[in-house]
Amino acid sequence: MNNINTIILAAGKGTRMNSTKPKVLQVLSDKTLLEHVLMQAQALCSQVFVVVGFGTEQVRQAFDDDSISWVEQSEQLGTGHAVQQVMPYINDDSISLVLYGDVPLIRQSTLENLIVQAQKSGVALLSVMLDNPTGYGRIMRKDNQIQAIVEQKDANAEQLTICEVNTGIMALDSGLLKTYLGNLDANNAQGELYLTDIIAMAVKDGKTIASVIAENDSEVAGVNDKVQLAELERVLQQNQAHQFMQQGLMLKDPARFDCRGTLNFGHDCEVDVNVVIEGDVSLGNNTTIAPNCIIKNAKIGNNVVILPNSVIEDAVIGNGASIGPFARIRPDTNIGESAKIGNFVEVKKSTIGKDSKISHLSYVGDTVMGAGVNIGAGVITCNYDGVNKHQTQIGDGAFIGSDTQLIAPVTIGKNATIGAGSTITKDVPDGQLSLSRAKQAVLKNWHKPVKT
Ligand code: UD1
Ligand code: CA
Repeated sequence: MNNINTIILAAGKGTRMNSTKPKVLQVLSDKTLLEHVLMQAQALCSQVFVVVGFGTEQVRQAFDDDSISWVEQSEQLGTGHAVQQVMPYINDDSISLVLYGDVPLIRQSTLENLIVQAQKSGVALLSVMLDNPTGYGRIMRKDNQIQAIVEQKDANAEQLTICEVNTGIMALDSGLLKTYLGNLDANNAQGELYLTDIIAMAVKDGKTIASVIAENDSEVAGVNDKVQLAELERVLQQNQAHQFMQQGLMLKDPARFDCRGTLNFGHDCEVDVNVVIEGDVSLGNNTTIAPNCIIKNAKIGNNVVILPNSVIEDAVIGNGASIGPFARIRPDTNIGESAKIGNFVEVKKSTIGKDSKISHLSYVGDTVMGAGVNIGAGVITCNYDGVNKHQTQIGDGAFIGSDTQLIAPVTIGKNATIGAGSTITKDVPDGQLSLSRAKQAVLKNWHKPVKT
């Protein structure tokens, strides 16, 4: 939209968070509160001002974005004072949209509506009906027209019964806003410059305040403490889960599913309970995720089965693969088509070929494994000599007996077989049996120790 300036108020400390971080840097899902608000603002307009005061440097450093204009409010003398700090940078001939840095779930469509109303009437205010309005500024109406906002601390008993409250979010003609801001005084219970006082000024000027009432209170809910932060996290997760289900993802229980990032999926995917998705994750078609899995930044193919309690990070999982239960797939891993990674298997920085199987209790790191390989139980690639990491190469069709250690760097030939319990320190030729095992012996003169 043209000629819109967004002013985000974010100077408050957020004492009730009991945190060393400024309030707007608290995290909701995968983003800070301020990032959520910024995303909505930046989708609407290019000029975004953020008023900062508490922990200014910390807040600024959290954003590597040249398009944001930071404005310092060194003393927090009220919401009107906060907006005053930005006015020198704003053209009279524009609309100013005021947002709060701690109201993260505000939607773009609501803001668009507010801006359109402000373009028509000069001042547009977003309010909401609350069962319990305590703490908020109350909206005073006469003949249904907004007259003024009275803050909780300034309200009389009758005004306190009003359930329509100020969300703090408004859009105004910038020229008008400048004039009214210049007339504010701190003649109120809190001794602050209230932004809300400009409503009565505009009415006195003969203006009609355009009214937008938010449909649900979570959209305009502010976050003051960690209880409210957790409440909004549930709202965000629930909204997202419902959207995913509507797009065809089956969630066994939407209340026990968290996506902190972006999730793309094909048709007929199913996700069981207590699954956490982080970063950028995609699922192909017909893929299922069993309970208690954590999946971060992964590309997962079609017909993949991820069994319970598996953790996958920065990995690609090929079509038809089976992972877990209790598997850990670490960064830079590529699991081939129809490969099987079984229980208590850890794979790191490795490529596993098509149809290869690592079924039980193994560690495979820094390895390039061909297709159709069978890794017995308890096999370990010893990739670390205490100083450097080394590679293991395993050719197609190799069979590695159980409890084998492959001391990297080492290459195992195609279709080679390694006898169980071997410690392999040298390259192994194609197609042959290699083993390194002490011969089994029975010691004749051995006696069981006697208790002394
Ligand atoms: C404000 C409104 C109230 C509304 C409520 C909604 C005023 C006078 N009151 O009250 O009508 O119902 O929000 O939550 O506007 N801030 C600054 N600098 C300041 C003061 C505040 O940047 O000097 C920022 C805060 O960081 C916060 C926002 O403005 O993000 C609101 O401030 P807060 O003190 O919470 O206002 P309330 O008293 O709750
Ligand atoms: Ca508040």
